[in-house]
Amino acid sequence: MNIKTSFTDFYELANGVKVPCIGYGTWQTPNGGVTQSCVKTAIQNGYRHIDTAFVYGNEEEVGAGIRDAGVARDEIFLTSKHWVTERGYKKTVAAVDASLKNLQVDYLDLYLVHWPCVEKCSPDWKEINAETWRGFEDMYKAGKLRAIGVSNYQKKHIEALYETAAVKPMVNQIEFHPGYTQYDNVLYSQSQGMLVEAWSPLGSGAVLKDERLAAIAAKYGKSVAQLCVRFAVQCGILPLPKSTAAERMISNAQVFDFAIDEADMQALLNFELLGFSGFLPEDAPADALAAES
Ligand code: A2P
Repeated sequence: MNIKTSFTDFYELANGVKVPCIGYGTWQTPNGGVTQSCVKTAIQNGYRHIDTAFVYGNEEEVGAGIRDAGVARDEIFLTSKHWVTERGYKKTVAAVDASLKNLQVDYLDLYLVHWPCVEKCSPDWKEINAETWRGFEDMYKAGKLRAIGVSNYQKKHIEALYETAAVKPMVNQIEFHPGYTQYDNVLYSQSQGMLVEAWSPLGSGAVLKDERLAAIAAKYGKSVAQLCVRFAVQCGILPLPKSTAAERMISNAQVFDFAIDEADMQALLNFELLGFSGFLPEDAPADALAAES
């Protein structure tokens, strides 16, 4: 496996687009200036990859933070995600334009389907996902999206998409951290040439208090957060840690001066359930199941 060696290293997507190997996540980062200042601080501390979503409600501030940071747009890798209420071809096309407007950018580096439509949501789930994806493909071909992918997709949703897709998804962004790795999905997605990205790589904080993980991290003279980020890196996964504090943003990316040994990698891969968000596509909150209206 090709393990990244520095914060400035890149993954290369199936279409050749380069992705900075650690991203800055903004899920649950509030407005009122917080997101704007966090994004600016993250960029000023070396992050070049920012991840947001329409449903986070903070795209405007993410865009403002990027502008404030004073780094050229083409040096930033910017991801947003399509929300479940916008499924279907026409709404998807409009959703791309809405996110571009919110962020005040001409293009996105990556746009992801946030959640698949599933059988429980509609017997036509395959067609609905296929039509959404057709919108993605057309916006990709139009140059508004440099790369396209999915999020929270499992094998059956990906295989269903392949039945009609002209462009295969290049990324699958899923929850991944010690205590919840979905490792079958990781291996399947990687075998399909997708880059796997980790949301909540720190288990949204829950994992950070675990004493067994603290003991492993201490062996390397690292924090549990650094152990978690490094764990993703060693699995060939792109982690998206988030923090509102500059010192934690910085330390979360300082993971290239140590290596987790094989025994500890196995322990982390086989860790008991911990910090799982509870979100799964087949069992998601009601609004995440909304069919095309
Ligand atoms: P804070 O913003 O106060 O730093 P995840 O990325 O898995 O969703 O986890 C994010 C959570 O983890 C946030 O609550 C964040 O809080 C916290 N966090 C991020 N980095 C660290 C760190 N290095 N040490 C402790 N907590 C952290």
